[in-house]
Amino acid sequence: MTNPTFKVTLSSNPKPDAEREAILEAPVFGANLTDHMVVCVWQKDQGWTSAEVVPYGPIMMDPSAAVLHYGQEIFEGIKAYRHQDGSIHTFRPADNARRLQLSARRMALPELPTEMFIESLRQLIAVDGKWVPQPVNEKTLYIRPFEIAAENFLGVRSAHRAEYRVIASPVGPYFTGGLKPISIWLALGSARAGKGGTGEAKTGGNYAASLMAQNEGYEQGCSQVLFLDPETETYIEELGGMNVFFVFKDGRVVTPDLDGTILRGITRDSLCQLIRDRGLELEERRIAIDEVKAGLESGEIVEMFACGTAAVITPIGEFKSKNGNIGNPNAEPGELTVSLRKELTGIQYGTVEDRHNWMFKLSD
Ligand SMILES: Cc1ncc(COP(=O)(O)O)c(C=O)c1O
Repeated sequence: MTNPTFKVTLSSNPKPDAEREAILEAPVFGANLTDHMVVCVWQKDQGWTSAEVVPYGPIMMDPSAAVLHYGQEIFEGIKAYRHQDGSIHTFRPADNARRLQLSARRMALPELPTEMFIESLRQLIAVDGKWVPQPVNEKTLYIRPFEIAAENFLGVRSAHRAEYRVIASPVGPYFTGGLKPISIWLALGSARAGKGGTGEAKTGGNYAASLMAQNEGYEQGCSQVLFLDPETETYIEELGGMNVFFVFKDGRVVTPDLDGTILRGITRDSLCQLIRDRGLELEERRIAIDEVKAGLESGEIVEMFACGTAAVITPIGEFKSKNGNIGNPNAEPGELTVSLRKELTGIQYGTVEDRHNWMFKLSD
């Protein structure tokens, strides 16, 4: 079976309307989950054997389940946006489906067909659409599809049973401080992913590997960590959960190229397109931290920003490290940063023309 039809079992105990509305008033990122979830099962030699929407609840798991021991886990992050007319849309879902397939290949998990991925989002929204907030203050429903090795077996080999699940949580802005430039900690001596490793896969272990540096960063007042290439600690890769861009005085925009060690960010790809649409020169290439330092000092680099589904676009003020600081923590958000952010969120909320057909309607 390649595309099982979804069986739906509604929750007998959904959150009362008043409680849900109170959560949607001021959602805290990842703190409250909706009433239902999707569960699809894959078995070796049979393929995807079932697809269901069930009430949200704990996963019953045997202590020998492979994911708990060998870390075969991958995930995605995608948002549902409510438009002014009440309809619900998502952004480039086929790209998230493809990235989940790429992650699955790298982590020896089964690939979920693109149609099944998109259908899983539609099915969840069909029952939990009222959890998508009104389009104010950048509120959205953050959807977290994930896949785990769910075979009860101790032994290092790829699991013969896997589960794909989807949960969702209403969210407000990722950084609560408004559009203020963030300070970023340079992870020196602590790599996230190396050549031939798992950097391009969206797998839990990459995030676990980033937390030690992130904790160091928190202690230094930084909200994110920047990873450099692990071999030489020279070239900029990406943040713990975002890609990065640098804007030069002459109008060029530079972002690290996809060399297999960083995530193929869908926001990154969209911004590359929007930047080119404006007739600006976009360079996807290696960029050294020393080039950034020199560029900021000479005034050649005029804006820096980070991007991802969760935080959209966030200006970067400074990079801090044990070797000193680069940039200005009080820098004003740059002109291009602000205007790209406005354009992208406008497309997502349906107030700016969707020239590239990025939006996908999940529900009327
Ligand atoms: C490590 C990492 N880099 C970049 C991104 C940005 O990717 P996207 O724009 O697809 O959300 C994310 C977020 O998913 C991430 O976790």
